[in-house]
Amino acid sequence: MRIDILTLFPDSMRAVLGESILGRAAKKGVIDIQCTQIRDYTDNKQQQVDDYPYGGGWGCVMMAQPLKACLDDVMTKAGPRKSRVIYMSPQGRPFNQAEARRLVAEYDHLVLVCGHYEGIDERFIEECVDEELSIGDYVLTGGELAAMVVTDCVCRMVPGVLSDTECYTGESHWDGLLEYPQYTRPEVWEGREVPEVLRGGDHAKIEHWRRKQQLERTRIKRPDMFAAFRPDEADEKLLLELQRERSRMKLTETVTCRKAAMEDMPAILELLSGARKRLKKARVDVWQGPYPSEETFAADIARGECFLLLYGDEPSGMFTVEAPGAPYYEAELTDGKWHSEAPYSVLHRNVVAGKFAGTGMADHEMRFIEETALNQGARALRLLTHKKNQPMKHLLLRHGYRFAGNVELIPEPGLSGTRQAFEKVLK
Ligand code: ADE
Repeated sequence: MRIDILTLFPDSMRAVLGESILGRAAKKGVIDIQCTQIRDYTDNKQQQVDDYPYGGGWGCVMMAQPLKACLDDVMTKAGPRKSRVIYMSPQGRPFNQAEARRLVAEYDHLVLVCGHYEGIDERFIEECVDEELSIGDYVLTGGELAAMVVTDCVCRMVPGVLSDTECYTGESHWDGLLEYPQYTRPEVWEGREVPEVLRGGDHAKIEHWRRKQQLERTRIKRPDMFAAFRPDEADEKLLLELQRERSRMKLTETVTCRKAAMEDMPAILELLSGARKRLKKARVDVWQGPYPSEETFAADIARGECFLLLYGDEPSGMFTVEAPGAPYYEAELTDGKWHSEAPYSVLHRNVVAGKFAGTGMADHEMRFIEETALNQGARALRLLTHKKNQPMKHLLLRHGYRFAGNVELIPEPGLSGTRQAFEKVLK
């Protein structure tokens, strides 16, 4: 790709366009950017390039003659090519990524004409210009910045300029969407974490997350682009997922926690029944038999170790925390090792009501669980979970729990008794 820029400021333009990626690409010979001084082509002694406008008015107009002579010369120097003469003008067609793609695909020689003052003689445009391009609805003092924008954007799409076509095929505007967010080290900066999915190394999940981010960002930041975007079947599915996520409830009431009483049993059984159904759907074979029963919770309540989470007045979760020193079963690790010898409480039967999924209610519950354990005199918290209980495991890892080993419980008929043990040292 050869780009000729006709300008009154060739030195400044060379300085900018000769740097960095474009500079290296020019050295490799994949692009050739020439900046030519229009003033060198005047046919008057004073090297005057502009004059007063016919009909009066403010400012000066660039004359057609030096522009035409300059253009003829660069055309001769460029030789026979698929050329396009473009006048940079606020009256032009809006320049965007699609226009850049078109220029790269259809031409191997662009001539960018930079006007100044109050514009250029209209007859030059009529006689010599193939099209006009604008870089936005505002007026610059000249076409130079606009020509640099077009040059940069076009050149980076020329094969061989960037190391890999992926460099630009995934980015903003390539397919009518904005780019997904990017992160680099460190993993935590100013308390802000790099999203977990990007640290996991599961490429399918990363792709899925990134595409959703592209769709959501475009919807929020550029509704105009989003309205013009035509999703395919896969994108339609992601849009539906996003819609569901958006319709999830936002917590506006305060969340509190108190000891459960026998009168709370109907609420507890309702929370239990919802949890059983969700576990079944997720094929996690716990709580699919008689355990835990009303008696289990009645005993928890009697020991004063069953707690209810309230969203306003509404029961939104429950858990049982067994105080240190009185474990009603001792979890023996078949492998691995507990991380701490500190007195520990044991978490059992924690549930968050299904309607609060994704609202942060589980994080509130985690906070109350740890507070309860500390009040019981514990300095660590232990618990068992099923290896397929992914939401629970994600919650635990997010809250700083560590895997300690496996435990074999006496299995209920037809169900697996293997559990994973987690532990957190409380501060
Ligand atoms: N020259 C002056 N303003 C311009 C703009 N917005 N786009 C292109 N060229 C220009």
